[in-house]
Amino acid sequence: MPDERVRIALVGCGNIARAHWRGIRYGAPLLEVTAVVDADADRAAAMAARTGGRAFTSLTEALAQGDFDAVDLMLPHDLHEAAVLEAFAAHKHVVLEKPMAPTLDACARILAAAEASGRVFMIAEQSQFWPDAMRIQELLAAGAIGDVIWARAFFFDPPESSGSVGNPADPIPWRFRLARSGGGISMDGGAHWIRPLRMWFGDVESVMATTGRHVAEMEGESRAHAVFRFSSGVTATFDALLGAGPGAPTEDFRITGTAGEIVAERGNGGRLLLYDAAHPQGEVLLDSFAGRSDAFGVELNEFSRAVLHGEPFTAGPEHSLGELRTALAMYRSAKSGRWEQVAHD
Ligand SMILES: NC(=O)c1ccc[n+]([C@@H]2O[C@H](COP(=O)([O-])OP(=O)(O)OC[C@H]3O[C@@H](n4cnc5c(N)ncnc54)[C@H](O)[C@@H]3O)[C@@H](O)[C@H]2O)c1
Repeated sequence: MPDERVRIALVGCGNIARAHWRGIRYGAPLLEVTAVVDADADRAAAMAARTGGRAFTSLTEALAQGDFDAVDLMLPHDLHEAAVLEAFAAHKHVVLEKPMAPTLDACARILAAAEASGRVFMIAEQSQFWPDAMRIQELLAAGAIGDVIWARAFFFDPPESSGSVGNPADPIPWRFRLARSGGGISMDGGAHWIRPLRMWFGDVESVMATTGRHVAEMEGESRAHAVFRFSSGVTATFDALLGAGPGAPTEDFRITGTAGEIVAERGNGGRLLLYDAAHPQGEVLLDSFAGRSDAFGVELNEFSRAVLHGEPFTAGPEHSLGELRTALAMYRSAKSGRWEQVAHD
């Protein structure tokens, strides 16, 4: 690459594209946005004005006429597979927003195409770089709360998080359509809570879940309760909720050990607290979760360094299948009423 930067096309200029652009601007100096793509010409134009990239209304057109080495795909889930395969066929490196695809079969085809292409392939999962998630990992490794007894995770999305419509002929947001999203809140935003749990406790081996729908127009689940059993032997509850109205501050994670507790509170900007013998009232380890939004820059910087220097990923694309398999096992359990295995082959 001539100037040691990766020229990249932002594909899908909706909700998460703004977070990726901020990440590139402030945290991924080796990336240069030279193209932006959105089926909605106004969105493409707005992103072009922000980034300086050339606007296109289709990936096909951008691949034919644009000037870039890599694509950052931020599209509705049903479009992931076709877009990745098209990008690899055009010899581009790919960073793809989670989930890789809504089904494991589609994921297998994507992974095979990635392998055959010889290009760099990353699944974007920024929660692995959240400062609180990484700090908790260090605390657990150091035995700060002794042996873990159990953990709780609560994922809450506010009502306005349903995303854009994505099809002028259909007034329902694409993520409310099962044929487009592949699942509900557990497969979607829930992934960002499942990844830290996997960082701390290992793979999810089996799940017991119940799901429900309180958002009438949403076909997938808008609420879920689950119990996860991890390879380490730890058990955790996982709750996910798409809010239906104003809500109270949430406690994202609570981990209870034989010698203390760790709590990640999301309300009021976020706090990470350690309760132990020396700090029975709780020691504030982080007084803001502002660093969570910087995690997009960290992941995209890692992507650019893999493209330019062959540096390894913190977690390869196959690893992201763990979140998808967990959500799919939850859906099986909600139907069967039984514990379901989460396969890891
Ligand atoms: N990492 C995170 O925290 C996070 C948060 C939200 C969404 N996501 C993921 O990002 C992806 C996109 O979600 P979103 O919330 O940004 O959705 P969105 O609906 O806000 O944006 C999607 C964009 O894609 C455009 N689009 C639709 N079809 C297209 C096509 N054929 N060609 C080009 N553009 C097309 C739409 O016009 C829209 O602007 C999903 O995979 C989602 O799971 C990740």
